[in-house]
Amino acid sequence: MSIDWQHYSLEQLRANATLTFRQGGGSRPDVLLIEIDGAKAVLKDQGGADKVFAFLIGPILNWRECKALKKLAQLDCVPDLLSQPSARSFLMSYHESEQITRLEKFTPDWPTFFAKLSIAINDVHTAGVAHNDLRNPTNTLVTANGEPILVDLVACFCRGRSWNGLNRWIFNKFCQVDLSAITKIKSRVAPQLITSEDVVAEDIAGRPGMALKHLGQLIRKVSRRLFTS
Ligand SMILES: Nc1ncnc2c1ncn2[C@@H]1O[C@H](COP(=O)(O)OP(=O)(O)OP(=O)(O)O)[C@@H](O)[C@H]1O
Ligand SMILES: [Mg+2]
Repeated sequence: MSIDWQHYSLEQLRANATLTFRQGGGSRPDVLLIEIDGAKAVLKDQGGADKVFAFLIGPILNWRECKALKKLAQLDCVPDLLSQPSARSFLMSYHESEQITRLEKFTPDWPTFFAKLSIAINDVHTAGVAHNDLRNPTNTLVTANGEPILVDLVACFCRGRSWNGLNRWIFNKFCQVDLSAITKIKSRVAPQLITSEDVVAEDIAGRPGMALKHLGQLIRKVSRRLFTS
């Protein structure tokens, strides 16, 4: 049965939560599995973070992630945005999957999976978005069919206009950091598959890319300190 998710308020959605993927608190949102009439979706609610953080930063984070999901709407490797029940929350399609470094039920064919992952990341970049948090393996999910699903686009960086040289430089650096995540994940789950190209990808991401990434992490850390109790 297909459901019109737009129909449901935040309160109604939360009342139908059947699983908590991530308990909110501090600067973290609630991430909940919602089930209504047999249909499933995932609610990410920045309202679950610390009150001050949720009030001041929540809408910005929610807006950033929804913007990225809209840009990537045509890609199968990223969840579909289903509704935005409040300024601090959104609902996305549910993909039955496991985090790549915590597989229990699924056993993907690794060479095929990594070929797909590489295509998926390049497709995201072609659509004008650098994910920017793929080195965190909890953001790469594996489905029963061995398909990669990329979640958590809150730290993304979008490609700007061609005349904006600084934006393009930063965008390219973040794309390189995304690609270097493949090497990092391989080293965790299938080190035998690391190729010389992977090693080069890790090198290219190198200092400027990692420095930018660490700057982003620092900004998040400072805002967490400032706005959470
Ligand atoms: N669309 C989805 N379908 C299935 N599972 C999902 C989906 N979105 C999120 N999850 C699950 O919820 C977890 C947390 O989601 P997400 O990374 O967006 O939140 P987060 O607050 O950034 O968490 P973390 O800090 O652990 O990265 C994912 O690792 C995954 O297990
Ligand atoms: Mg995450």
